[in-house]
Amino acid sequence: MGWELQRALAPLGELSALDSDEADFAAPESLAAVVRNVRPDVIVNAAAHTAVDRAEAEPALARRINAEAPAVLAREAASAGAWLVHYSTDYVFDGSGDTAWSEDAPTGPRNVYGTTKLEGEIAIRASGARHLLFRTSWVYGTRGGNFARTMLRLAGERDRLAVIDDQIGAPTGAELIADVTAHAIRAVVAGAAPGGTYHLAAAGETSWHGYACRVIETARAAGAPVKVAREAIAAVPSSEFKTAAARPGNSRLDTTKLRRAFGLTLPPWQAGVDRMLAELLT
Ligand SMILES: NC(=O)c1ccc[n+]([C@@H]2O[C@H](COP(=O)([O-])OP(=O)(O)OC[C@H]3O[C@@H](n4cnc5c(N)ncnc54)[C@H](OP(=O)(O)O)[C@@H]3O)[C@@H](O)[C@H]2O)c1
Repeated sequence: MGWELQRALAPLGELSALDSDEADFAAPESLAAVVRNVRPDVIVNAAAHTAVDRAEAEPALARRINAEAPAVLAREAASAGAWLVHYSTDYVFDGSGDTAWSEDAPTGPRNVYGTTKLEGEIAIRASGARHLLFRTSWVYGTRGGNFARTMLRLAGERDRLAVIDDQIGAPTGAELIADVTAHAIRAVVAGAAPGGTYHLAAAGETSWHGYACRVIETARAAGAPVKVAREAIAAVPSSEFKTAAARPGNSRLDTTKLRRAFGLTLPPWQAGVDRMLAELLT
């Protein structure tokens, strides 16, 4: 997401893009000096401890990166009068039911990642900083590893695949998130829309199995090396895959608030996935 933000935010003004060497979120208090040095009007934080299973084994580090570091950014933003833009996750919800979560739905994270991301949210809201907090889901980008890339590799290697079909959400491109972020920053800075918490995800819904099938069948149609037959992509429950962290079944996010506040249309998830595949498959 950081990569796409560098592209989308560049036209907004002078941009300082810092990596983990320059801004170490594992040492939260060190970020105060970083912010004071850059003196930003807007801080956009795409850093996080996103290794959901590993976070179960290193909760203190996850908390520093996902909760304490954003709290320092928020404190510094508040004292400098800067905006803070931050990202959170569908994993702050417990995943029950089958209706889309609204921004004010009760939270109930089921793993360390979700818990620490929620703590980060709470700290930002409590800081008094002007903020935009986007909860998103199932993020992919053309840069770095992602689910689609893994499915393409496995589909080329194996005769059979088993993919979870009882977790439902919307694959959302980092490109879309970055473009919406740029639009939203313009709007809030101009006073045309209020800050706060917004759900940001592509339209529609699918399971990981549905997502995998879209990826693999698109690759097959494009002539990419695909070994697995369509009917050999099995849909299985989450219980078939033991992971360190529990994951929510219902990751649907209701994006009505965002679309209304910013006058935006969010494209169907397939549109972004197809674009990513067009890049990956060439
Ligand atoms: N991926 C998803 O499915 C998903 C879903 C919902 C919400 N989100 C949220 O979206 C945001 C962006 O996530 P993403 O998908 O872009 O994740 P990502 O690809 O894992 O990127 C996380 C970034 O955080 C940086 N980082 C990790 N530890 C750091 C540290 N100690 N100090 C400084 N930087 C550190 C990493 O830098 P290095 O590369 O240098 O390690 C990396 O650039 C996060 O807030 C995440 O919680 C993601």
